[in-house]
Amino acid sequence: MNIGIDKIGFHTPHLYVDMNKLAVARDVEPEKFTIGIGQEKMALAPKTQDAVTLAANAAQLILDENDKEKIDLVIFGTESGIDHSKSAAVYIHRLLGINPYARSIELKQACYGATAGIQMAKGHIALNPESKVLVLGADIARYGLNTSGESTQGAGAVALVISKNPKLLVLEEESAYLTDDIMDFWRPVYSDTAFVDGKFSNEQYISFFNKVWEKYKEKTNLALKDFSAICFHLPYTKMGLKALRTILEEGTEEEQTRLKKHYQTSTLYNRIVGNIYTGSLYLSLLSLLEQNDDLKAGSRIGLYSYGSGAVGEFFSGNLQPDYKEYLYTDEHLEMFDRRKEVSVEEYEAIFIDTLPSDGSDVVLNHTDDPAAIYLAGIEDNKRIYRSGK
Ligand code: COA
Repeated sequence: MNIGIDKIGFHTPHLYVDMNKLAVARDVEPEKFTIGIGQEKMALAPKTQDAVTLAANAAQLILDENDKEKIDLVIFGTESGIDHSKSAAVYIHRLLGINPYARSIELKQACYGATAGIQMAKGHIALNPESKVLVLGADIARYGLNTSGESTQGAGAVALVISKNPKLLVLEEESAYLTDDIMDFWRPVYSDTAFVDGKFSNEQYISFFNKVWEKYKEKTNLALKDFSAICFHLPYTKMGLKALRTILEEGTEEEQTRLKKHYQTSTLYNRIVGNIYTGSLYLSLLSLLEQNDDLKAGSRIGLYSYGSGAVGEFFSGNLQPDYKEYLYTDEHLEMFDRRKEVSVEEYEAIFIDTLPSDGSDVVLNHTDDPAAIYLAGIEDNKRIYRSGK
């Protein structure tokens, strides 16, 4: 049975910071951020957007009544969870009006959560071919003001419908994955910003990539020549390029040119959004699908997922006929166009103005937030989500 990605939706908040201006404010050369890191804009979440609302907005764009009826499993991958107990998926399930006879759960393994969700979804569809699964990857990447990770922050969510006979990408059966207990990036429960050993994290990302790539080739007998493109988890857009370069010599010059060209296309959206943690690989895939002008049905796309801590996985899929017709390209581009730039001073003020953590109530002013689904406040320790603008 063919199982894979039937639909992809994306949502990012309406605010962003220009990386050139952030560089000036931090007294570094702008090229460090725009070339060395490879980021142009950094999405910024207002207080009225959290992982739940970002994901709900991404999913609302793509789900029709038939999807809502057929979805019987909602899997939410995030490392920006809002509750230690109740899953973010349950809120989404209500906000989007999904069939009540569904399972709704949250998964966590740093930026790998959504990939784990997709692999679980594949198994679920294999056992229940008429079902559909909604997989969400939503995060707000926060390292802190004036930290070395600051230039790799961002915010956004990807929503994917996984089904049989998918319209976009059929996922192939073989996959190679690896776990190793390392401390390259983590966020203890008492902290609202991440801790990172940046250089070690970069090294491990590449080391995991090399190991799962070798394992994948061993399992499948495929080689670099068999790939039209490879998409990477992108904490920042230079990262995937560093990993890609380690295997390029396995291909001819023509193959190398093809892979580098498609890599650039696969980074366009990430470059203007920043790191969205668990959704980053799928934002890169979305960028490739919506912005390439030469990938045909049958093209094989490789996908490298990495979640610090760490778990890595390499898997692949084949593009489906007329996939371009089933994308939401215009809606995504309009969303990018509608965004508003904030100054570095405004960004800093928004960054430190966080929700109360002492249990007090708050009513949020949402008039400036154009998103259809937003956080209206906190009452009796309950987040109040509203839909419908
Ligand atoms: N023009 C062009 N490039 C420049 C430059 C300039 N003027 N100045 C610096 N650079 C380059 C550096 O050479 C380096 O490139 P390289 O990595 O290819 O060698 C790059 O910019 C970054 O510079 P570096 O000094 O390493 O930056 P940093 O110490 O501030 O840290 C990160 C960068 C990425 C390590 C840091 O932002 C971080 O920790 N981010 C989080 C990492 C992460 O997300 N990990 C999670 C899991 S993957």
